[in-house]
Amino acid sequence: NGLISVLRNSLFKLGLPGKFLARVLSFSEEEGFLDIPQAKGNIGAIGKQAFFIPLYDLFLVYGGIFRLNFGPKSFLIVSDPGIAKHILKGNSKAYSKGILAEILEFVMGTGLIPADGEIWRKRRRVVVPALHQKYVSTMIGLFGEASYRLCEKLNDAALEGRSVEMESLFSRLTLDIIGKALFNYDFDSLSNDTGIVEAVYTVLRESELRSTSPIPTWEIPIWKDISPRQRKVNASLELVNNTLDGLIDMCKRIVEEEDVNFGEEYMNEKDPSILHFLLASGDDVTSKQLRDDLMTMLIAGHETSAAVLTWTFYLLSKEPSVVSKLQDEVDVVLGDRFPVIDDMKKLKYTTRVINESLRLYPQPPVLIRRSLEDDMLGMFPIKKGEDIFISIWNLHHCPNNWVDPEIFKPERWPLDGPDPNESNQDFSYLPFGGGPRKCLGDMFATFETVTALAMLVRKFNFEMAPGAPSVEMTTGATIHTTQGLNMRVSQRKGATIHPCKS
Ligand code: HEM
Repeated sequence: NGLISVLRNSLFKLGLPGKFLARVLSFSEEEGFLDIPQAKGNIGAIGKQAFFIPLYDLFLVYGGIFRLNFGPKSFLIVSDPGIAKHILKGNSKAYSKGILAEILEFVMGTGLIPADGEIWRKRRRVVVPALHQKYVSTMIGLFGEASYRLCEKLNDAALEGRSVEMESLFSRLTLDIIGKALFNYDFDSLSNDTGIVEAVYTVLRESELRSTSPIPTWEIPIWKDISPRQRKVNASLELVNNTLDGLIDMCKRIVEEEDVNFGEEYMNEKDPSILHFLLASGDDVTSKQLRDDLMTMLIAGHETSAAVLTWTFYLLSKEPSVVSKLQDEVDVVLGDRFPVIDDMKKLKYTTRVINESLRLYPQPPVLIRRSLEDDMLGMFPIKKGEDIFISIWNLHHCPNNWVDPEIFKPERWPLDGPDPNESNQDFSYLPFGGGPRKCLGDMFATFETVTALAMLVRKFNFEMAPGAPSVEMTTGATIHTTQGLNMRVSQRKGATIHPCKS
């Protein structure tokens, strides 16, 4: 078995697909199965850096599937596109969200991300239609308005010659967008730091901390009620929950008074939010479930998009030739207008920049699953109850899947070809997951990040601020910087800050 494992891994590193090797090498196995390689070595190193980095080093040694033991806990790390496809799509019914659902229960309850089984099926069927074409087109106006407010803020910094910390600004931009898009609420976080905005951030940070913390201190009896951090978390959660309950009640009253003519692309002009759609659709659900779904989307649709913008601007700061091409395209397609839906097809290079940024910095870098029954992963038998990490980071950085994997090259996908996705890249590229649990906000998020990127590079040139600390990665649910993304902004020659309406 050891020899087979070494042979398989050596051939895998030479570029032969794991699925093929598992099949061929199984002929030399007595039972026709392979044992899953077990990672050895200094696993302790994992605690010291963003955890998906050492998992990449282990992947290069042990291959597309290996086992990692942490004391009594054991995880399977999957980095093989065929096995990822099997778990996410081919046999997705045999897998649940496992640890993720346990950790996020306190904030998302049975919302769409943690939910499994019948609850998930029902809620997904109800929520997906809310993100219809007309809704997403309307949202482009919202993305433009919010990005414009950010431009105004950056303009002040440019005039004053101040450097700006872009990661927190992107986080505020996407919070303002998702609040309006989900429940027509204006967090106005670009200009306001306290109250509900602070509460949302406390809850978000706690979810991320719980996702990455080895010891669940929040479960320790008494401590969980008296620790200052937990008290702050509980108070923040209560404030966010009450605010959402208030918005749900208010929207219910408005819908009751409305003459609703509900159809497939229903949208209330004054309040095009997802909440309004769900209530008008007659969604027969408890307010708690509705709140869980809204809270899930608030979290899912906020930090992800912010992280994509942060890492895109970091990548661009190192590639002036990409910035020039990007600015040329944006100048030609948009001129001085706000973007509209038709521009999304035309901003092809801008879209490729986002596609490529998501390859190098996938948000989240790993997906979590638990097997609900015994199964075969390639030629590897696994038991019910296995906790599995599918490393999108490894898939997106693997030299077998990509030419020059570490190079930021939006040109790797031709402009006249289809936008890359998990299907046309055969699960080597999973920016929005795949199979039935694929992200339902993929189009929303792509248009949001394309709009923000286009509007910002049209007005400004960005460079790393002089003396800024080097940009390193740390991880919560998404990839954060350790010390922010400090940039210096200057207005582009000839660019005015005020775009015209189209
Ligand atoms: C699921 C990525 C934006 C709502 C997912 C998954 C990924 C992902 C990888 C799959 C998780 C898994 O299989 O375990 C992203 C990225 C985004 C983004 C990179 C931004 C660039 C959004 C937005 C929304 C959203 C804007 C809401 C409007 C969801 C929901 C799920 C999900 C509800 C769970 C779907 C289900 O399990 O049925 N997202 N997402 N996401 N995303 Fe997104």
